Amino acid sequence: QQKAKHTLLEAHEYTAKLYHYLLRNTEAGKPAMEYLRSRGFTDSLIEEFGLGYAPARWDTLTQALNRKEYVPAQMEAGGLLSRRQEGEGWVDRFRDRVMFPIEDAGGQIIAFAGRLLSDGQPKYLNSPETPLFNKSRTLYRLHQARAAMRRTRQAVLFEGYVDCIKAWSAGVHNGVATMGTALTAEHAAVLKRFADEIVLCYDGDDAGQAAAHKSIPLLEGAGFHVRVSVLPNRMDPDEFITNHGPGAFVREYIEGAVSAVKFQLIYLRKSHILLEEDGKIRYLRDAVKIVARRESPTERELLLKELAQEFGVSLDTLKQESLEVRRQEK
Ligand code: UTP
Ligand code: MN
Ligand code: MN
Ligand code: MN
Ligand code: MN
Repeated sequence: QQKAKHTLLEAHEYTAKLYHYLLRNTEAGKPAMEYLRSRGFTDSLIEEFGLGYAPARWDTLTQALNRKEYVPAQMEAGGLLSRRQEGEGWVDRFRDRVMFPIEDAGGQIIAFAGRLLSDGQPKYLNSPETPLFNKSRTLYRLHQARAAMRRTRQAVLFEGYVDCIKAWSAGVHNGVATMGTALTAEHAAVLKRFADEIVLCYDGDDAGQAAAHKSIPLLEGAGFHVRVSVLPNRMDPDEFITNHGPGAFVREYIEGAVSAVKFQLIYLRKSHILLEEDGKIRYLRDAVKIVARRESPTERELLLKELAQEFGVSLDTLKQESLEVRRQEK
């Protein structure tokens, strides 16, 4: 068991080196290099993140692992090879993809994500669940981000690999990404060892905003103070940094992330038509519900004041309604 895991770790280390070499030093890797350049990846980013390229042919890694005398069935269980659809034997799992090595909290490579160079499905192919890799526990870049998290007691959470990388190059060194799955209680427990505050920095599109909305109760339940970064025009962090620069990103969307409750109110707005009277009334009722659930009386009062001002109702009315909600939900 331990020996098998050790062998798999070695094989991942070797595979990452091979993919990196193929990206940096071969003709086959050129289109992948051009792709990365076109997305703003510098040499130093490619080195820092250990990016690589898995060639299009079926047996590059299969042959290489074979020469190193790794047992193909074990490499299949580790998610590096797949069984041939027809006939005997194994083939490479990742083909014609830019490769992102994924490390555990101790910095050992335990999985890969591979991105297509053009449109197609799946855009990212991740390693399957293996003896080394558990998706619902793993956070991309945790090993590198943990020191900065401890220092700032804050973690920034991204949904994408490239977002995490570009934010790192913008100076956000306490950032990690989930692995193409929703945030889990296990992720939250891991982060709690290093941070007290989470900044959710998901994509600005509907899916990203819905994911942030869902993650808030999970994170608050785990004891975090939560803030949310709401990117404009459905952009994701990578797109925002590319278009508006690292300075604006950090200032406006990391330092300027809004409180969880502010985010919930912004999110709620989208599902109400505020131009109509009964839309307004329904929005206010739901908004007061959100505010009523806040523990701090000061926070409640400040938020209710803002709502009262904006909608031209008295603070007393909203306070009363808020108390009503609190009584009902007790
Ligand atoms: P997105 O669809 O937002 O992709 O998925 P992205 O990160 O912006 O990718 P680029 O910029 O086009 O390269 C967010 C994350 O969800 C996971 C990946 O972790 C991705 O970074 N994902 C997405 C998958 O695992 N598989 C997929 O096919 C798509
Ligand atoms: Mn190198
Ligand atoms: Mn997305
Ligand atoms: Mn995205
Ligand atoms: Mn993106």
